[in-house]
Amino acid sequence: MRSDFAVTGSGLTYEIRNIAEIANYLASLGMEISFENTGDPVAKGEVIPTWMKDVIKEVIDDDKSFAYSPTRGIESTRKYLADVNNKRGGAQISKDDILFFNGLGDAIARCYSSMRVDARVIMPEPTYSTHFMAEVMHSSFPPNTYRLDPYNNWEPDLDDLERKVKSHKSIVGILVVNPDNPTGHVYSEENLRKIVAIAEKYDLFLMFDELYHNMIYNGYTTPYLSDIIGDTVQGMSMKSLSKEVPWPGGRCGWIEVYNSGKDPDFDRYINMIFQLKMAEVCSTTIPQMAIPKILEHKEYQSYLVERVKYYEKVATLAYDILKDVPYVKVSKPNGAFYITVVFDEPLMNVRQFLEIKDPKIREFIDSKLNVSAENDKRFTYNLLGSTGICLVPLTSFFSPMQGFRVVLLEKNIEIFEKNLRIIAKKVVEYIESSK
Ligand SMILES: Cc1ncc(COP(=O)(O)O)c(C=O)c1O
Repeated sequence: MRSDFAVTGSGLTYEIRNIAEIANYLASLGMEISFENTGDPVAKGEVIPTWMKDVIKEVIDDDKSFAYSPTRGIESTRKYLADVNNKRGGAQISKDDILFFNGLGDAIARCYSSMRVDARVIMPEPTYSTHFMAEVMHSSFPPNTYRLDPYNNWEPDLDDLERKVKSHKSIVGILVVNPDNPTGHVYSEENLRKIVAIAEKYDLFLMFDELYHNMIYNGYTTPYLSDIIGDTVQGMSMKSLSKEVPWPGGRCGWIEVYNSGKDPDFDRYINMIFQLKMAEVCSTTIPQMAIPKILEHKEYQSYLVERVKYYEKVATLAYDILKDVPYVKVSKPNGAFYITVVFDEPLMNVRQFLEIKDPKIREFIDSKLNVSAENDKRFTYNLLGSTGICLVPLTSFFSPMQGFRVVLLEKNIEIFEKNLRIIAKKVVEYIESSK
């Protein structure tokens, strides 16, 4: 080439997909793989109910579903979603405070790339990879984070948050993922109100990823951002059809903007996101047309309740198996469909391994682990080569903590239990392998 023109990136890789590539290669060698790495309910066997397919067929019968939609999204759907929000009684919005995207991944990319490079959003640690990758790529510097405490049920360290907000003047916003991926933590109303108060005190905006909001269990509840934001702080909620409907392949997500028109800096920012979207024309039309028909369908609530009950059952099973395993710490998830396990870090070293009988697979796994590979990556790759169970290392959620995330989506509870017991056994074998 005339010049080396690819951006260098920041060395970040999306390990959720990365490890899946390795697993796919092992599958091509004939190995049976259990994909416990990706949060796609449909890929994990969720059966889409007939009534939902009928709704989508009805949408497709309308030729308009093949057309572009308005840049902000279909007007009647935005009106419907604004009404749903307003009926709850918190921050009130109009249809023009809603902007559709091709999945929340697209929204996330644009929300960070619409900020000046020196403006930063502080995010939880660990944090969902798409957020930190987009934030870091926009600014080319490591992210600012506040700690979620694995020894205290993943509660956010709000002193850490305030200290960092106070000392880093470049921070203009706070990200909250509630319920959280990868920890399954559901924020208490008290903590959320404290976060709103910090935003108010330091004049920051709030970015709340609420994609899992309707997937909470164990009797927990949590307010939406719009319920508690009040009328002075600016913020946005991010929502998506991917997990709840579930329709990840539909690529449909949206943001709801609260307290627009009250702060010119924030309004300019939101307008920039809109301008970027305009350059792309619009987002996927079919799912937008389907939203009111699906969410208002008489079968929808009971369908969702059944699924959430299942996640509660699987989360409890996973926690019960993992809680007594030595060398790790685990907290019970109360929302979303993930459980995160943290290793007792001082016990980890580069000499640890799991036995892999096939020398070809051993060689392949070792070739993927260079000297600087994180210890939890070593564990997950060894586990994959040894058992076929595919997990995501915790360090790939921008965390210095060593551990791994298990997805709670397996539809066959016996297979899930068997895999969890294998993971529990392999944790011990791995740690003790260098004794
Ligand atoms: C917290 C969180 N935000 C955003 C996304 C992206 O969702 P979408 O499929 O709408 O792009 C995910 C997907 O796993 C997620 O877990």
